[in-house]
Amino acid sequence: MSKKIVIAVDGFSSCGKSSFAKLIAQRLGYLYIDSGAMYRAVTLGFIQTGLIENGAVKRDNLLENIKKLEVGFSFNPNTKKHETTLNRIVVEEQIRTIGVASLVSVVAAISEVRERMVELQRKLGVDKGIVMDGRDIGTVVFPNAELKIFMTADPKIRAERRLKELVEKDQVVNFDEILANIEERDHLDQTRDISPLRKAEDAIILDNSYMTIDEQMIWVESLVVEKTNEATSEK
Ligand code: CDP
Repeated sequence: MSKKIVIAVDGFSSCGKSSFAKLIAQRLGYLYIDSGAMYRAVTLGFIQTGLIENGAVKRDNLLENIKKLEVGFSFNPNTKKHETTLNRIVVEEQIRTIGVASLVSVVAAISEVRERMVELQRKLGVDKGIVMDGRDIGTVVFPNAELKIFMTADPKIRAERRLKELVEKDQVVNFDEILANIEERDHLDQTRDISPLRKAEDAIILDNSYMTIDEQMIWVESLVVEKTNEATSEK
């Protein structure tokens, strides 16, 4: 029987990492975990408890405050999707607003937050058979992942994709605001001190600016087969 592998998908914001990773997981019968959703949930928790002031997180009792936030996922049998939960309440929609998006990179730059999330992410991957997307999955969370993909796309194309997604959800936003948010997050994610966004040495680059999701699936298929065979033949 073929062995299950770990697939790490990292890359810039709004590259379509989630759709790509989700579809791979669905086709392989693997677990899909959106690590960005976890940082978004912590951000929402901080906002709700008044821990963010003038765009910065209050440092007093930070560890205790982080521990009070229980981030997880629950399966919705109606939609057949996993939804992000915060203290057992589904927050899938609230975490996708521009309010959360504009603060998440600040929260994700805090080492105490990252340590806790990485610990949780590793627990979710102990049995392998997982596709996780994020910024540091191939570099920090699963440095031994059998398959690592680093996704990128033109920022303007990414902003258009995100605009479409938000308009479909009836959110009032404009293109310039989204592009500015994407560029700012790219900058913050790449320049932060801990676990900055960077390509793992053994990651394979996928620029999907002009690729459909079907083309991306064809691209990844042979890699999955190759890495699975390698893992299976290893002693
Ligand atoms: O959907 P999008 O790619 O725009 O972002 P996301 O994956 O939901 O992640 C939101 C934010 O969380 C990112 O901009 C990062 O600042 C942070 N993040 C991180 O630091 N590490 C991860 N593994 C995943 C997300």
